[in-house]
Amino acid sequence: MSADGTPCAAGTQASVVLVGFMGVGKSRVGKAVARRRGVPFVDCDHVIEHEAGPIPGIFASAGEVGFRAIEQEVVLRVLAEAGEQPRVVALGGGAVLSGDVREALTRFAHVVWLTAPLEDVWRRVGSGARADRPLAGDEAAFRRLFEERVALYERVATCRVANGDGRNVADVVDDIVGALTGSAQAEGAA
Ligand code: S3P
Repeated sequence: MSADGTPCAAGTQASVVLVGFMGVGKSRVGKAVARRRGVPFVDCDHVIEHEAGPIPGIFASAGEVGFRAIEQEVVLRVLAEAGEQPRVVALGGGAVLSGDVREALTRFAHVVWLTAPLEDVWRRVGSGARADRPLAGDEAAFRRLFEERVALYERVATCRVANGDGRNVADVVDDIVGALTGSAQAEGAA
């Protein structure tokens, strides 16, 4: 039952939504969690690219504002589907900038904030490492975003799981599944 007394759709209790900064491993971990739970995995960035083309191209032609409008539309649609049918969903790192997305996330029982130290995510996706993230080109700006986003992830997450360098995917999946069932404590720090 939700706070206003209406019955919850099955998916809002069974689906898992992964949030967190660029490079924390949402896609890799999300796929593994979905496999473990036997449900489909949906990566919102892939849906955006399928429908609107490569993300760097969207930033180049429509700017970040144009990208965020497309992202919000896609994420709200994917979350609505995940509210009806169990899914594991990975959100792009900036999706939580949208108040509508944050509001939609309040309906889900499992919003996992995947974390990793700044040095690890910069090494994974920062300038030179990968060319597919328009906001990962400048280290100082990347650091600022990393720090600014913490409060937003904190606000939407129901638990937090660490995925810094040195952790393997199976252990991270164990932490997430444990946190979902309440049988284990998710790690508190990156
Ligand atoms: C972004 C994160 C990216 C992608 C876009 C913008 C962000 O997704 O949506 O480049 O603003 O943090 P990942 O978090 O999957 O890298």
